Amino acid sequence: MLVPMTEILQKSREGHYGVIAPNICNEDSARAAIEAAAETNSPIILDLIYSASPDITLLAHIVKYLADRVSVPVALNLDHGGEFKQHIEAVRAGFSSIMVDRSSLPYEQNVAEVAELVKVAHSVGMSVEAELGHVGTAADGDGQTSDLYTNVDQAADFVERTGCDALAVAIGTAHGKYPAGYVPHLDFDRLHELYNAVEVPLVLHGGSGSGDDNLARATREGITKVNVGTSLFSAGMQNLADHVGELTRANLGYKMISDAYKAELIRHMELVGQVGKA
Ligand code: 13P
Repeated sequence: MLVPMTEILQKSREGHYGVIAPNICNEDSARAAIEAAAETNSPIILDLIYSASPDITLLAHIVKYLADRVSVPVALNLDHGGEFKQHIEAVRAGFSSIMVDRSSLPYEQNVAEVAELVKVAHSVGMSVEAELGHVGTAADGDGQTSDLYTNVDQAADFVERTGCDALAVAIGTAHGKYPAGYVPHLDFDRLHELYNAVEVPLVLHGGSGSGDDNLARATREGITKVNVGTSLFSAGMQNLADHVGELTRANLGYKMISDAYKAELIRHMELVGQVGKA
């Protein structure tokens, strides 16, 4: 069933386990993620990437239809919502929540724009994830210096003034593929301080390639939601590449992608302790 994202996050924060939010971009990935949750009796948050799938109204219908057929809690979040229009579309489509990413703007502008969308979202019972500090791109070397990390004093002020329901923090991870052999060093001291400074659940972006031990520890020590995208789609595409010679009328390739996406998702769900927590 589709539930508010805060319902899943509050339970997991209290229980000191994490919840993986897999990126989805179409019916196949939505279906694979919901199956992974149902088969492991786990809560799940689907993080829809607008740029990969701008017809979010159609996809929201599909997600609601699939979520209604399982008993585990499913939430649908707009990942890295950009222009105002995208958020309004998500509101109209009945998402559980929106992420308002204004993390590359100056602080006061970030506060003002998030607060404005919090008012809109809360008026229709939706929650808002915001970002402070900036989780950049792994290929650009972002995450390797503390310049972009979340400032602990600002975090408390930010949450109070915006009224956001979840906070994405920058503590060393970055989006996408890291350079070969590089595993980020996470700033756990900062994570502990952030956890004590704000009461809303903390979100870790850039889960792919960030180290299994890091993800497991981060969710034990303060992170509630972990966004993972690249690893899941890479596993899917690799499986297709490995078996492309075996296409049949019953398996035209999409299933090869979905099966590996789902297996990699379940592996991540096990790491952060959400399995069996539906
Ligand atoms: P990765 O693709 O690096 O896992 O990042 C996903 C993410 O943070 C989506 O918001």
